Amino acid sequence: MLVLGIETTCDETAAAVIERQPDGSGRILSNIVHSQISDHAPYGGVVPEIAARAHVDLLDGLIDRAMAEAGVGYAELSGVAAAAGPGLIGGVIVGLTTAKAIAMVHDTPLIAVNHLEAHALTPRLTEPLAFPYCLFLVSGGHTQIVAVLGVGEYVRLGTTVDDAMGEAFDKVAKMLGLPYPGGPQVERAAARGDPTRFDFPRPMVGRPEPNFSLSGLKTAVRNEASRLLPLEEQDIADLCAGFQAAVLASTADRLKVGLRIFTERFGPPQALVAAGGVASNQAIRGALEAIAKKAGTVLLLPPPALCTDNGAMIAWAGAERLALGISDGLDAAPRARWLLDADAKAPAGHKNSRAGY
Ligand code: KG4
Ligand code: ZN
Repeated sequence: MLVLGIETTCDETAAAVIERQPDGSGRILSNIVHSQISDHAPYGGVVPEIAARAHVDLLDGLIDRAMAEAGVGYAELSGVAAAAGPGLIGGVIVGLTTAKAIAMVHDTPLIAVNHLEAHALTPRLTEPLAFPYCLFLVSGGHTQIVAVLGVGEYVRLGTTVDDAMGEAFDKVAKMLGLPYPGGPQVERAAARGDPTRFDFPRPMVGRPEPNFSLSGLKTAVRNEASRLLPLEEQDIADLCAGFQAAVLASTADRLKVGLRIFTERFGPPQALVAAGGVASNQAIRGALEAIAKKAGTVLLLPPPALCTDNGAMIAWAGAERLALGISDGLDAAPRARWLLDADAKAPAGHKNSRAGY
């Protein structure tokens, strides 16, 4: 089956066409991502109104390009999928409305995809991965350990009690005067820094619940930074290296607990999988390898370009749902908030129900 996917929940405008074979394997035929970073950079973060307007300006052209590059005509599509949330509501409306128009004009099913579910299912696009597996979802808005038991069957084992990990990277970058978006900047600076110069706290280490907390660590970085003012280049590198090392230590401990609880409840996972923008961080990718090995499982990481927001992941999640006979009505609602575990089992307006949904 051929599915067009549309992503507009944040500051990437993206469209892609993927093919799913009956054996469950997938292939990306086109995957076009336009990052709006330069539009938002002067403001130091994503401005929702600017993002929504940019999606309106860009999306039609991107979809045309994605279809042309894939060599696919609209009549050949098995469905059109759009991220219907969670995200910035203006952008979500643009993508979902566009998908509805295509679905209506070309009489093809609509799939209103949960953006988080798309991150969760992405590893199955590039690798033959069976359920259940343990997902570490780390983006600008989320830090979660999730048991992925099947399409639409998610159990959240742990989450952040304050900042999301990507958000913490972005805030640390901002306080050190590094440009937006901060995650890749902190990673780059950390590579030149000494991770042992500062003794930052290792948040939540030793706690029995696999939750995360990053705001205390962020404050510790801010306090050190204010003490050192004015900051030299090396200070910034060392602060970034110390922050990232603390994040890695906390992540290792939290995932160890999460994987243990996963195994107790659902048996051994087929893999540890990471997704979301922060999973494109090379230091984190390296640390996850050791974490998976210690837990007796394998690590499966989508390529960095599929970890950050893109249209292929939306198209793929749409194809996975469509293959199970699930699609949505044209009244599917855009959603600013949409929990993966609570609502993924009964998305608004879906036509067909299936045991286990
Ligand atoms: O998944 P994503 O593209 O968008 C959503 O939030 O849904 O993730 C973006 C987040 C941002 O906070 C960004 O700073 C962070 O991922 N990020 C990184 C890296 N690349 C992106 N954080 C740390 N290291 C990176 N290399
Ligand atoms: Zn995302």
